[in-house]
Amino acid sequence: MSDKTQEKYKALFLDRDGIINVDHGYVYKKEDFEFNEGIFALVKHFFDEGYLIFVVTNQSGIGRGYYSEEDFSRLTQWMIDVFKQKNISIEKVLYCPHTPHAKCSCRKPNTALIDEVLQQYKIDLSDSYLIGDKQSDIDLALNAGIKHAIYIGNKNIKNSTLNFLSIWKYKEYLENKDDLAKEIEAKIEQDPKVEIFSLATTNGRVWVKRARKTASNLLHKGAFFLTKNPIVVPVETKTAYEALQYEASKLQRLYENSIPVPKLIVKSQTYFVIEDCGQTVKYLLQELSNSETQTLLEKIIVQLATLHNANEYHGGSQVKNFTYKENKVYFIDFEESFPSDIDIKELQFRDLFLFLFSISKLNIKVDYAALIEQYITITGNQTVIDKFHTLTHTVSFLMKIVKNRIVWHFIDKDTKSIYRLLIHLENIPSHTGEAP
Ligand SMILES: Nc1ncnc2c1ncn2[C@@H]1O[C@H](COP(=O)(O)OP(=O)(O)O)[C@@H](O)[C@H]1O
Ligand SMILES: [Mg+2]
Repeated sequence: MSDKTQEKYKALFLDRDGIINVDHGYVYKKEDFEFNEGIFALVKHFFDEGYLIFVVTNQSGIGRGYYSEEDFSRLTQWMIDVFKQKNISIEKVLYCPHTPHAKCSCRKPNTALIDEVLQQYKIDLSDSYLIGDKQSDIDLALNAGIKHAIYIGNKNIKNSTLNFLSIWKYKEYLENKDDLAKEIEAKIEQDPKVEIFSLATTNGRVWVKRARKTASNLLHKGAFFLTKNPIVVPVETKTAYEALQYEASKLQRLYENSIPVPKLIVKSQTYFVIEDCGQTVKYLLQELSNSETQTLLEKIIVQLATLHNANEYHGGSQVKNFTYKENKVYFIDFEESFPSDIDIKELQFRDLFLFLFSISKLNIKVDYAALIEQYITITGNQTVIDKFHTLTHTVSFLMKIVKNRIVWHFIDKDTKSIYRLLIHLENIPSHTGEAP
């Protein structure tokens, strides 16, 4: 073996059961060892790019007495030979033979096995990958400082950098990654001002969102200065890069917490790519009947309430920032953020108001009271009704002016929509049962 303590290497760390082979539980015979589809092509991809290939595996079956150390070594040698036949050399297979009770330092997510590799090889962890199918694998990457933690599976896993449903999907992604980057660059060159666009890839349709700064205009700032109403609180000013980072990490966090948002596929310094989440609700609503409309809006309210129960807010909560695919509503567009001294309850109220307001502009028949009732049932937050009443009370003199027949004739469509919405809100009885 050549001396690998001198030159710096990049490494791929592979979990065994569930990644290299199908996890049938305590596999120790080659007859039961079923290679995952696409695994050779995937590992070959890394090997050809100069990565050292390590397998890091918990083998508590040894400690539990299900099979011996010799059984494991025999199977391992056979596995290495199969890779060899495909022109892939596995550098080393590291394993922990202990049961969880042993409280050893080598069982994943503990890092002793990786530490061992780092003593023998000079490895650049910032260009290294770990592929696993369990939280303990991803945690190992985090604990050991392996930059890229790829999760394969469909569970909600924390701290992974990329997720794929199968080894095959990840292999396909890697094979097409350079093509995708080229396609994105070509599109931007042809249309330098484009901010968001979709592309068809072999893995399905995706959306590309480019970095751009966020800020509120003067009118907006003035409205807040005068009213101090959190509904018109200005967004935080962020550079394009900050806004991109903010939105990508919020998407990731919500995804990990099972909130329906598009999955982040890849992020660069200037854009990110997310999965397609179907039709934009704003446009979909125009095709629906009254009852279908109400059903869809209720679905959104349920999601919004769920998001709020998770102590989060949407930000740009208008109907154009929800999508619908296969009976499921998704949130999109999270670049807006607000100063941290604002109570999250106010931002959640702003979400709800903004959502209702965006509906009111569509000229469709909606039962607002039912939507609000549903929101309150799920969040238990009855204060929203009082907040609506405070709001309508604050602008009641304006509402009186708008109502005037002559004035009505001159005002624009948006003002009329908001007026109609405010009337609805004003008439919703407060929970004490008293008329507002
Ligand atoms: N993941 C997605 N799935 C489906 N449509 C999307 C997706 N992401 C964006 N869109 C479409 O692109 C529009 C703009 O995207 P969005 O993230 O809201 O950007 P902006 O901040 O410019 O509003 C959306 O209103 C929607 O029509
Ligand atoms: Mg949007």
